[in-house]
Amino acid sequence: MIIKNGNTFHLQGKNISYIMAVNESGDLHHYYFGKKLSDRDYSKKVKNIEHGLICYDEDGWYLESANLEYPAYGHTDLRTPAFSVRNKFGNSVSRPVFKSFVIKENAVAEVEGMPYILKNGNNAQTLEITLEDKAAGFDIVLSYTVFDEYDVVLRSSAINNISDGEIVIESAYSAGVDFDKGNYDIVYFPGAWTRERYMERTAVKSGMKMEIGNAKGGSGHAMNPFVILCDSKTNEKTGNAYGFSLIYSGNHSTVIENDQYGKIRVVQGLNPFGFEQVLKSGEAFATPQMILSYSDNGLGGLSRTIHKVVANNLCRSNTAKKDRPILINNWEATYFDFTEEKLIEIAKKAKSVGIELLVLDDGWFGKRNDDDCSLGDWAVNPKKLPLGIDGLAKKINEEGLKFGLWFEPEMANPDSDLFRAHPDWIISVPNTKPSLGRKQYMLDLANNDVCDYIIDVISGHLRNANITYIKWDYNRMMTDMPYKGYNHKYTLGLYRVYSTLVKNFPDVLIEGCASGGGRFDLGILAYSPQIWTSDNSDAISRLKIQYGTSMGYPISSMSAHVTASPNHQVGRITPLKTRAAVAYAGVFGYELDITTMSDEEIAEVKEQIKFYNEIRGLVRNGELYRLQSPYEGNYCSWMIVSEDKKEAVLVGVKILSNSNMDEENIYLDGLCESFTYKDTETGEIYGGDELMYKGITPEYELCDFSAYVKYFKAEV
Ligand code: GLA
Repeated sequence: MIIKNGNTFHLQGKNISYIMAVNESGDLHHYYFGKKLSDRDYSKKVKNIEHGLICYDEDGWYLESANLEYPAYGHTDLRTPAFSVRNKFGNSVSRPVFKSFVIKENAVAEVEGMPYILKNGNNAQTLEITLEDKAAGFDIVLSYTVFDEYDVVLRSSAINNISDGEIVIESAYSAGVDFDKGNYDIVYFPGAWTRERYMERTAVKSGMKMEIGNAKGGSGHAMNPFVILCDSKTNEKTGNAYGFSLIYSGNHSTVIENDQYGKIRVVQGLNPFGFEQVLKSGEAFATPQMILSYSDNGLGGLSRTIHKVVANNLCRSNTAKKDRPILINNWEATYFDFTEEKLIEIAKKAKSVGIELLVLDDGWFGKRNDDDCSLGDWAVNPKKLPLGIDGLAKKINEEGLKFGLWFEPEMANPDSDLFRAHPDWIISVPNTKPSLGRKQYMLDLANNDVCDYIIDVISGHLRNANITYIKWDYNRMMTDMPYKGYNHKYTLGLYRVYSTLVKNFPDVLIEGCASGGGRFDLGILAYSPQIWTSDNSDAISRLKIQYGTSMGYPISSMSAHVTASPNHQVGRITPLKTRAAVAYAGVFGYELDITTMSDEEIAEVKEQIKFYNEIRGLVRNGELYRLQSPYEGNYCSWMIVSEDKKEAVLVGVKILSNSNMDEENIYLDGLCESFTYKDTETGEIYGGDELMYKGITPEYELCDFSAYVKYFKAEV
């Protein structure tokens, strides 16, 4: 609901309020974001606070000590600005003031050229507030969408040149929030290849200014565009937590500033590094959308809030709402070394255990037998696959499996027909040899012809063969950017390609991938309902990766595969049971040579698939409760609970074994106190209250890396 009361704008979600007010000078102040408040005129509460040495305007306003909605630079507020626009006079000083507003009933804010949260049958309202800086020659439209069903505020902004000359946008964050003085922590998700989204938490100390960002091209392994600000006492179950999730796949930045008066400013959006956008008279520039979320039920409550809106309202593909196929991928089974016969053999065996789809990974095209050539040449290698892709797909279908295919559409190797024919299609600058990453160049997606080529090539394959699944990879960082602002242009090109394909082929499931989880962001999830979480498929490494990822992303978006032991990335030997238990917390599949598994293992795999079939609805729609953190000790456990609380899966992993030790008791969560639950394996009966307040002490097998899985059903 959006209420205008005097000069106050009060936005309400299911349990939240977001309040702002215009002061007598026309500045838009932020008043409150948090648990729902009653409706009042809060505009008189906007304080003007004087501090020693602070600057003020001629009406006596001290903006540096105020909480502001979309702070400008250089007038009287000298903290990190939400934007910086160089006007035709060559300076970037600005003070946009309130001009007008409009409330759009039953509508979400749409963002030009970029993905945004969809309405999808929910009750949404959107407020647009226009601020104007006449002297500098631009106005800014701030968009806010709230839902009756969710505890989020969707925010974005657009800058319009209303002058008769050119202006230059030097930075434009999507949005920000100014918080009152307090003790806050920041939780963020840095990483690297094979250890993505490792959770970090640190106090926002006095005077600290911290940038959580990435300017390496894609959203990146190194830092995820999701950040949490929380009270220093907030834990998994209790306390205030505020989420900042950017719907964007390129260079991003979140700045957290604890200023000299102890107020905390958070702004999130496009990374200003290497960014610039010239706007001619009459032109507009839109920023990506940011999801601002809140929970007073700790980090767990915040995650569940975000999971709901992301799982239900982000992805454009029909495949998002359907059960995802249990697949087998040949990458860790064969790497480049496969034949048609081998793939069919894998398919046969996979079918016999209940797997539903085979993904043919890298190496099917051009003359690619290694990673040194042929990216860009998306024609089948007839030596490896004499039946062609359509023939192979048919064969796989005859074996009873669906068929999926790997592409890395944004790239070309120097040794490729594509590059030889179009040397100008790669990202490069004059007089400099372009850099390589994994022996490949990046295609210039800011060039429409290149985008059209990619759309044509992929569409051709989808029309010619029965392909129901694409794994879309992206395996290097972006260098040699030809001008400032290029990264954003590229990202817009990428979204055009993605959205065209998803529009034309809404039933083809596209899995995102970027050397594992190097582009695990809400921009990609708008088109790909699932992303290969990490190239590190080791179950124990995955505990931290999946736990960290689950903070900001639903488990239905995390692809998780059972792979061989010893594991190919870390060499660890783990029980097959543990590998599956960890992969159950995601979109489940296998990625190993199933044809070489023993009869005993095959029998176990059959059981695993039977079990996953029972819980796959829970994985797609259930609510996640994290119980023990792998960042804090020797155990990691979590639950997935159905919305009606009638079903719950509990998984626990003990990392290292020890002798003569009592196991830790765990307290289940998310259940209904008054329900009676049955452990479907042992038949044991528990009260919901008993499971949550008395808890249980799980038993682990006496070995390293052991796991248990319990499936509870309410007796109704
Ligand atoms: C990347 C992906 C892997 C695999 C290889 C193929 O590393 O993350 O899953 O597809 O590329 O080259």
